[in-house]
Amino acid sequence: MPDESGTIPVHREPWAGQGLPPTLTWDERDGGVLRLLDQTLLPHRVEFRLCRTADDVWHAIRVLCVRGAPAIGVAAAYGLCLAARPLTHLRRPEFLAHLRAAADYLSTARPTAVNLSWALRRMLAHAEHLSGADGAALVPGLLAEAHGIARQDAEVCRRIGQIGESLIPDSAGVLTHCNAGALATVAHGTALALLYEAHRQGRSFRVFADETRPLLQGARLTAFELAASGINVTVLCDGAAASLMQAGRIQLVVVGADRIAANGDTANKIGTLALAVAARQFSIPFYVVAPLSTLDLSLASGRDIPIEQRAEDELRQVGGIDIMSAAIKCYNPAFDVTPAGLITALVTETGIARPVNARTIAHLVAAAATSDTRS
Ligand code: MRU
Repeated sequence: MPDESGTIPVHREPWAGQGLPPTLTWDERDGGVLRLLDQTLLPHRVEFRLCRTADDVWHAIRVLCVRGAPAIGVAAAYGLCLAARPLTHLRRPEFLAHLRAAADYLSTARPTAVNLSWALRRMLAHAEHLSGADGAALVPGLLAEAHGIARQDAEVCRRIGQIGESLIPDSAGVLTHCNAGALATVAHGTALALLYEAHRQGRSFRVFADETRPLLQGARLTAFELAASGINVTVLCDGAAASLMQAGRIQLVVVGADRIAANGDTANKIGTLALAVAARQFSIPFYVVAPLSTLDLSLASGRDIPIEQRAEDELRQVGGIDIMSAAIKCYNPAFDVTPAGLITALVTETGIARPVNARTIAHLVAAAATSDTRS
């Protein structure tokens, strides 16, 4: 992995706790610090970075110290609080103008996961509605909103697990890709929330986790967190998934999402599309699991989803060692787009869309709006 992290002021803290370490927490010390589990070091080292500025958060997102669509949204919300901290002396209009500029900056950290801009837009909208004549009066309300986004993420993921757990039959072989677990969210995960809930209910199943080249989120993160929870997990190289399906050992595929267009086309980690194509070939259900904050209804289809291109060295090197000449070109998109027609169902916190299309997605969104109005 390229070490842009050298540019982040490093405030590392070792961890001595038990179980799965928290992805991100807000720490009140020194006026407020975002404490991020450094996922680039897992599973060998469990350490935290203490982000004290919006710039620290931007870099932490960029280098995948914090990653996974929901988690980067929450991190960015706290990043905006860190940006606001030195602005308490400003009058309201100047404060809000600086805040908008900071949100624009944070939103450039990674382009594909829409949760990043979703969380920042929600923070800005909240700031506009807060009363207060200057920054000092507005900052506490902003922090409260970031805490609200974090709490909501954990609660939404818990609900997703409850809504989707019945899709995991006893004795199933379940294939997953990348990491859509607790490490990609504040808690529980999205795709993996189904597995945690089925496991909690005593169902027994076996998970196959693609290693997920080139940054190995499946091998380093998914295997780490499932094993820590006592779930039977086996890692395979990405190229082995289709043959495992062909052998009849996979009964369903569950993956997360980084952005879902209005028609259900879904961007997720590179390699997801190949799994969906293979699953269709072998008549295996292919489920996408995501919170509604991952929907981007401004895009009619997946054609317009921006796909992050990452550094060639992520492919050129393994464990920091060159495996090919620097003269060889590498193609390294971080995500691909799976057409809605290949997705059996979309599991969200308000229900399941099946089949996945513009109509069923609009129905889920309307259901969410009704329940928001009632609560
Ligand atoms: O590059 P990453 O590790 O941020 O990619 C993450 C994924 O592709 C996840 O599947 C997606 O964000 C869903 S996380 C609940």
